[in-house]
Formats: sequence, C-alpha cells, structure tokens
Amino acid sequence: MDAVAAELQEIAGQIRQCTLCRLCESRTNAVPGSGNVHADVVFIGEGPGKSEDEQGIPFCGASGRLLDTLLGSIQLSRQDVFITNVVKCRPPANRDPLPDEKDICATTYLDKQLALIQPKLIVTLGRHALGHFIPNLKISEVHGQPKRYRGQIYLALYHPAVALYNGSMRQTLQEDFYNIPRVLKKLAQEER
Ligand code: URA
Repeated sequence: MDAVAAELQEIAGQIRQCTLCRLCESRTNAVPGSGNVHADVVFIGEGPGKSEDEQGIPFCGASGRLLDTLLGSIQLSRQDVFITNVVKCRPPANRDPLPDEKDICATTYLDKQLALIQPKLIVTLGRHALGHFIPNLKISEVHGQPKRYRGQIYLALYHPAVALYNGSMRQTLQEDFYNIPRVLKKLAQEER
C-alpha cells in the first residue's frame, strides 16, 4: 500500500469512529468512500442513504445503480474513480444534512481526502456537494459546465436520485455526464 492509500485508510478509520456531530447517534455504519485513491475524477454525493448506512459503501442503492450505468456510458467503472459524500453518516429519515453537520464533516474529512487524492476534476452530485465547494451558485444554472474555482476544476451535476423517476432529468444528467471525458481530455491537452 502506498502513502496516499495508507493515509486515506487512516482517515476512513477516524470516520468510522467519529462522534463530531449528532449523525453518529443514529448511524449503523459510517461511509468513508471508496474507489481508486489515485483517480483523476472524484464524485461527491450528499450523504449515505439507507442502503449505504447498512453496508458502509457509497452509492450502493438505487442511485448507485444509476451512477454505475452513467459511469459505464463514459467507459468508466468504480475502480477508475473515487466516490464519497459531503457527510459520511446517514441523516435520519434521509433528511437534508444540516449546515453544521456538513461543515464539520467536510472540513474534517472530505477536504483532507481530496488533498490526498488530488483529482484533476471534482464532480459534485446535487446542490449540497456543489455548495460546499463553490458558494452562491444555482445548480440549475451551472450544471454540466466546468468551473475553475481556487485552482480546482469542478463539474456540477444533478444528483442521480432526482433523475431516478424523472425522464427529462435523467436525459440532462446523461448529457452532462458526457462532459466528463471532454473536460478530462481538455485538461490533458492543457498539461502538454
Ligand atoms: N446518495 C448520496 O448522496 N450518497 C450516497 O452514497 C447514496 C445516495
């Protein structure tokens, strides 16, 4: 195991034992995140749902199956990317994570995970993830458009959960997904 993998494993251990906010009281399992620790792309959701809380794995329920399909549509799999969430413990009854929960969790864990992985592109899924990184943007106005903010490139996408039962949202999410390889290609060309 290399140093990055070891440090991420250390952080995952801290997350599993975390008691920094009230979400620890109702969780079954914390969900640190999983995937390729040297990925070019990191996907960030809102927080674990019921299946994720039961299994400790991010996006392993219905939204996750759609995410897998969308990844496949751009010739990627979970082994190619890293997937995690703004909050690592399930909010009770799937309520929105509260501002203090998002702040303490993301600044203590998510930001450190990203500093270690150093992805070329951060894909935010839904408004909570977008809001942690770039304040005051409306997802309806910026989805699918790469944004550079404080030296990092972001692509804001709608959350797969909203696309599950809404065909036009699903179409939009699919089209936005096709921008991921386009952005990566452009970044690779700029690096040359
Ligand atoms: N929704 C999320 O935002 N994250 C998960 O891990 C699963 C569902």
